[in-house]
Amino acid sequence: METATTYEVSETSGTSTFDERPDVTCLVDGGAYRDGNPFAVWQWMRENEPVLWHEPGVFPGFWSLTRYEEIKEVLRDAGTFSSSSGILLRPLAQGEDPGSDRTLALSDAPRHTLLRDAVAGWFAPRRLRLLSESLAARAHEIVRKAVAAGRIDFVADVAAKLPIEVVCTFLGIPDADRPAIVEWSTDAFCAGTAAERSIAHLQILDYFSDLAERRRADPGDDLVSVLAAVRHEGELLSLEEVVLNCDNLLVGGTENVRLALSGAMLALLQHPEQRALLQRDFDAVVDTATDEMLRWTSSATHIVRRATRDVVLGGRPIAAGELVVCWLPSANRDAEHFPDPDVFDLRRTPNRHLALGAGPHYCVGAQLAKLEMRAVLRELFAQLSDVELDGAPEHLDSIVVNGLRSLPLHLTPAAPHGDRGVRASGGL
Ligand code: HEM
Repeated sequence: METATTYEVSETSGTSTFDERPDVTCLVDGGAYRDGNPFAVWQWMRENEPVLWHEPGVFPGFWSLTRYEEIKEVLRDAGTFSSSSGILLRPLAQGEDPGSDRTLALSDAPRHTLLRDAVAGWFAPRRLRLLSESLAARAHEIVRKAVAAGRIDFVADVAAKLPIEVVCTFLGIPDADRPAIVEWSTDAFCAGTAAERSIAHLQILDYFSDLAERRRADPGDDLVSVLAAVRHEGELLSLEEVVLNCDNLLVGGTENVRLALSGAMLALLQHPEQRALLQRDFDAVVDTATDEMLRWTSSATHIVRRATRDVVLGGRPIAAGELVVCWLPSANRDAEHFPDPDVFDLRRTPNRHLALGAGPHYCVGAQLAKLEMRAVLRELFAQLSDVELDGAPEHLDSIVVNGLRSLPLHLTPAAPHGDRGVRASGGL
């Protein structure tokens, strides 16, 4: 029986003192990510029980991994640690994930390799270079509108916008349908009750089903058409498999970038010296800054794998068939791997964080995500002279992704200047 305990911590810092064992079960309660400080619990686990067994309850039993070393080992060894039965904790009552063994994220080789090869070209550097100009133009427009409004919710009005537009482009969603997709995605991922979220999600799946059918009959130059033409062992993917893969891309491509960008903005507000550094030397710092923002925000909270054989991890025996849960934000604050892990340092190098995963399932959209983040950051620093909090930021209460639900800001425009992209003096 575990006992709850009190602790004092500064925001997102792991520095804490526990009189006794903390209630580690709080990690599977979304409330911990809204009101608590999971970083303090993870720090205790890293230092005391880095491979810890969670008894079954609402969720099946699983091993909790909190150190960089074991998490990286698991993510890299896809033969021993399988993705095919699901990569997220699901309440026992919900049964198997419908995407199991069918989507890119939820499959093992050789099926995973086939799907990955099919979509990877869309995320290759050459294609992203072609995209970068239009992406910069869209980021400019999004930030311009936000600046004109003055008082905004940064999450909905800035951070959510570019990722959804980009995914719509990749999936070849016609312009006329985009407002509906944006509205359903907002409802499905950002707003409302669980019931409202699942209705919106069903609308998205219905839409993809129709689109996949059309693209199979009449292919275009987009990822839905690519997926609709994939053959596994000679057979085309079923329409349902195409739909689940599209959904995977939509969720992966929108939620995490939105959370990384809004978390990055909050971090810049909390660390004015880092904000000043980026303002002063944007081009020189932006690459390391983006990685530090990803490490710091670590929006994908956990990833599940299932052991395919008996294996020893961090000295503990894991039996074939057992689940392991990798807590990515914890790995990214592991002092054994990152000097001063609770310091937000935009010049941090090296910075081999695990926010985008590792190994064969390493985020296929990693470079795209960084491109989007850089485009929005560039515009913010170009178009604003000041930013202030305009209300209390609200955190999500999810065990799957962590970050901000809303971030009310008051934006002050930069003094008028010439060409777009030239930063005004004054600075964000
Ligand atoms: C800040 C932004 C992002 C973060 C933090 C993030 C995080 C991750 C992580 C941790 C994984 C590994 C999952 C695993 O090992 O099971 C992953 C995989 C994936 N991500 Fe991302 N992601 C981001 C952006 C994107 C974007 C922009 C897209 C696409 C438009 C995308 C699509 C995917 C897909 C399809 C996979 C599965 C890859 C595979 O299994 O081979 N992600 N992402």
